[in-house]
Amino acid sequence: MSDYLLEEDTLSPGKIYRLFSGSICPRPIAWVSTRDARGNANLAPFSFFNVVSVNPPVLGFSPLLDGEGQAKDTIRNLDEVPECVVHISGEGLVEEMNATSAGLEHGDDEFVHAGLEKVAMPGVSVPRVAGAPVAFGCRLREIIRFGDQPLAGNLVLAEVVSIHVDDALWDGRHVSAEGLRPIGRMAGNDYSRTDDLFVVERPSSG
Ligand SMILES: Cc1cc2nc3c(=O)[nH]c(=O)nc-3n(C[C@H](O)[C@H](O)[C@H](O)COP(=O)(O)O)c2cc1C
Repeated sequence: MSDYLLEEDTLSPGKIYRLFSGSICPRPIAWVSTRDARGNANLAPFSFFNVVSVNPPVLGFSPLLDGEGQAKDTIRNLDEVPECVVHISGEGLVEEMNATSAGLEHGDDEFVHAGLEKVAMPGVSVPRVAGAPVAFGCRLREIIRFGDQPLAGNLVLAEVVSIHVDDALWDGRHVSAEGLRPIGRMAGNDYSRTDDLFVVERPSSG
C-alpha cells in the first residue's frame, strides 16, 4: 500500500497524470471543434470531460498546457472565437477522432488531416463533423486557468445552445447505447467499449 501526502511527497506531474489517467477511467471523450478569428477550423479530442450543469446546460473539458507550458490550439481559438462544437464520436469514428489528436501547426485544419466533412451547426459559427452522431453547439461561459506551468489545466465551461442527434439513435426519450457505441479513454492508448452493460437498481428514494 502507498499513501502520498502531496505537501510532503514530491510526485512529478507525469506521475500524477499516470495515476489520474489509469484510475479515473473510462473517461468520456469530447471531440471539440473550434475556429480562429481568420476562420481556420480545428478539431481535437479531450477526455478530461463531463457534464457540469443541466439547467443551464453546460459541459466542461480541460485542455492542459503542453510540456513547454504552451496553450493548445483549442484554447487559443476559444480566446479568439468563444464558441465550440462538442461531438461524441462513438466507436464508428474512433480512428478519425484519434487522427485529430495529432499536433499540427497552429491554423492547420484537422478536419482536412482526418478526411472529415464539415457541416454548419445551428447557433454557432464553428463547423461540426458531418458524420458525428451527437454534437453540441456551445458558447463559452468561462475558462478557469490553473497556472502557466506544463500540464496546467484550462477548464472550459461551455454552454450548450444547439444539439444535433442522429434520429436513428434517439427516440425522443432515450439515446440508444447500441446505436451510439460510445467509447471510453483508459490510460495510454487503451480504450473501452460499452457492449457489456449491466443493470444496478437504484435504492428507492422512500
Ligand atoms: C482520446 C484522447 C483524449 C485526450 N484528452 C486530452 C485531454 O483531456 N486534455 C489534453 O490536454 N489533451 C488531451 N489529449 C491530447 C490532445 O488531443 C492533443 O494534445 C491535441 O493535439 C490538442 O489539439 P489542439 O492543439 O488542436 O487543441 C487527448 C488525446 C486523445 C487521443
